[in-house]
Amino acid sequence: MKILILNGPNLNLLGKREPEVYGTQTFEHYFEELKAKYSIIDMEYFQSNSEGALLDKLHEVGFTFDGIIFNGGAYTHTSIALADAIAAIKTPVIEVHISNVHAREEFRHHSHFSRVCKGVIVGLGLDGYRLALESFLG
Ligand code: DQA
Repeated sequence: MKILILNGPNLNLLGKREPEVYGTQTFEHYFEELKAKYSIIDMEYFQSNSEGALLDKLHEVGFTFDGIIFNGGAYTHTSIALADAIAAIKTPVIEVHISNVHAREEFRHHSHFSRVCKGVIVGLGLDGYRLALESFLG
């Protein structure tokens, strides 16, 4: 099983960025733990701050991989192009947010992605990525 974890803008700063909201662990460290725990899954991780690079990655893996776990960061609330890409590809996408976006500012309440995603996990911290993996495992 091939799974891509795709992180959008500012998520490269996890561990340093607003730790009271996003925790103190770096994503690289968390990803190593996840790979060790789920060694049967062929997992790839890609992060970019650029909308174009995220689009290119969705196009690249979206017809061959078994699942994509996508935290689009703030592009979630703004990007119709990324929503169109999720709709265009064959690979199912699970949307993940570390924080509970519904308990935060009004502008974080709407996601352009949710209607074209298989499911959505919000507010469960980094564990949301593991739960999405479990869902793909079935
Ligand atoms: C986020 C929530 C977004 O609103 C925010 O812009 C992020 C992170 C989350 O994981 O909680 O960058 O996607």
